[in-house]
Amino acid sequence: MNVSTAILERRAEKMFDPAFTIRDDQVGELLEKALLSPTAFNIQNWRIIRVKDAALRQKIREVAWNQDKVTDASLLLVLCADLNAWVKEPARYWSGAPQMYQDILIPAIDAYYRDKPQVQRDEAMRSCGLLAMSIMLLAQEQGWHSCPMDGFDFDAVGKLINLPDDHVISMMLAVGRRTQDSFPRTGKLPLNELCFEDTF
Ligand SMILES: Cc1cc2nc3c(=O)[nH]c(=O)nc-3n(C[C@H](O)[C@H](O)[C@H](O)COP(=O)(O)O)c2cc1C
Repeated sequence: MNVSTAILERRAEKMFDPAFTIRDDQVGELLEKALLSPTAFNIQNWRIIRVKDAALRQKIREVAWNQDKVTDASLLLVLCADLNAWVKEPARYWSGAPQMYQDILIPAIDAYYRDKPQVQRDEAMRSCGLLAMSIMLLAQEQGWHSCPMDGFDFDAVGKLINLPDDHVISMMLAVGRRTQDSFPRTGKLPLNELCFEDTF
C-alpha cells in the first residue's frame, strides 16, 4: 500500500472486533517503524503505554466516555511524553553524528527547553501527533484500522497508568479490525479556507 492510499483509506473507526488479535511481533515491528518518526533535536520524548490487561482496559473505558474501542480494539496505546527528555543524557540523541553537529546541537537542546514549560509541553504534543499518524498509517498498511482518542479524563487515565509527574498524556490510539464500514467523510473544509499564500 502506498502512502496516498493509506491516507485516503484511514478513518477514525468506531467499532472494533474484540476477537481480532495482533501478534506481539507485529506490534513490535509496527512500533519500531513508527518510532522512526521525527522529533525536534531527536529527543524522542514520546513514551508509549500498551494496555494489555483487560481489567485495566475496562477501568480506562469507564473514564473514556464508555467508548467500546477502549476494550474492544486489539491494541490500546496511550501516547505519553516525558517533559524532561531534553535533559536526560541528551548526548545520546546525537551519538554517532559528526562531532561538529554534536558540539552545536547538544548545548542547543538545553537552551531551547530549560525553564520553558510551555515549550516542553508543546514539544510533547508535536512529537506524539507525528507518532500517532505514523502508527495509524502503518496500521492501515497492514489492513488494520485505528482511532485516535482524546475523549477521556486525562487525570484519571494518568492515575490508572501510573503516569510519572514529569510526563503528560497526548492521546490514546485504538488499533484493530473494524466491524462496520465507516460512514462517508463529513464536513471537510475546502482547501482555500485552510491554506493561504505567504501571510494570513
Ligand atoms: C486528537 C484526536 C482525538 C480524537 N478523539 C476521538 C475520540 O475520543 N473518539 C472518537 O470516536 N473519535 C475521536 N477522534 C476522531 C475524529 O472525530 C475524526 O478523526 C474526525 O471526525 C475526522 O474523521 P476521520 O478521521 O474518519 O477522517 C479524534 C481525533 C483526533 C485527531
